[in-house]
Amino acid sequence: MATYEEGLKASPEEFCQRMVQTYPLRFSERFWEIFDREVVPKLPSTPLVVDLGTGPGLFVQDVARRFPGGRFYGYDQSPAMIEYAQTLDCGEARVEWRVEDISAQFPPFPPASIDLLAINYVFHGFDYPLPLLDQIEERLKPEGIFLLYDWLRTSLPEYLGFFDQIPEPMDMERRYLQFARHNRYTLSDLTWLLEEAHRFRVLQVYRMTRYHTLFLLQRASGSS
Ligand SMILES: C[S@@+](CC[C@H](N)C(=O)[O-])C[C@H]1O[C@@H](n2cnc3c(N)ncnc32)[C@H](O)[C@@H]1O
Repeated sequence: MATYEEGLKASPEEFCQRMVQTYPLRFSERFWEIFDREVVPKLPSTPLVVDLGTGPGLFVQDVARRFPGGRFYGYDQSPAMIEYAQTLDCGEARVEWRVEDISAQFPPFPPASIDLLAINYVFHGFDYPLPLLDQIEERLKPEGIFLLYDWLRTSLPEYLGFFDQIPEPMDMERRYLQFARHNRYTLSDLTWLLEEAHRFRVLQVYRMTRYHTLFLLQRASGSS
């Protein structure tokens, strides 16, 4: 599988910096208000948290601050991302960063062991996502939370316009290059894929922006 940044005409370091700069847009006050209200109370005080495609690791750092006794694993195929993540201060939490291609091999957690599995802005890159969803379902505890946050399909003019609103907007060529990649699923496609094709249980779905959605899920066989 080509690395993510290969399709973006950006060096690994540039891509990492972009993910750092845009982190507050993805993980906004609204995101953390939802997370603190809907996710935190469902987790044990010392959770096992796995972030697939962690990028520069800032999400892990923010969750680790909430659970200083927890164990955290951040995986990314880009050494530049993991190098950045390794510089983060995660307090007392035990955090491991790993360079891994999760499409080649899912991290070796025992069945039903993970309390929170997050995949933020990564899922759209999987051409055939069912094996990944199988692995997530197998490793998640019955009462564990699967958090999926990603792009939604929009029209080309809407998509191109999105980048006018962000700091350091990308040039037009890069916007076009990313269009095919980000515009994979509509909200109903994703809901169908998660609920019907894979039978996760949707706890909540939030339309974070016109372009982005956040799913909170559990195993269909999980506790109610
Ligand atoms: C758009 S960034 C999102 C980073 C982070 N989750 C965030 O939201 O800040 C996507 C990340 O997923 C990583 N990624 C994509 N496919 C991957 C794979 N197959 N295995 C591991 N990491 C992957 C990329 O290297 C990149 O760091």
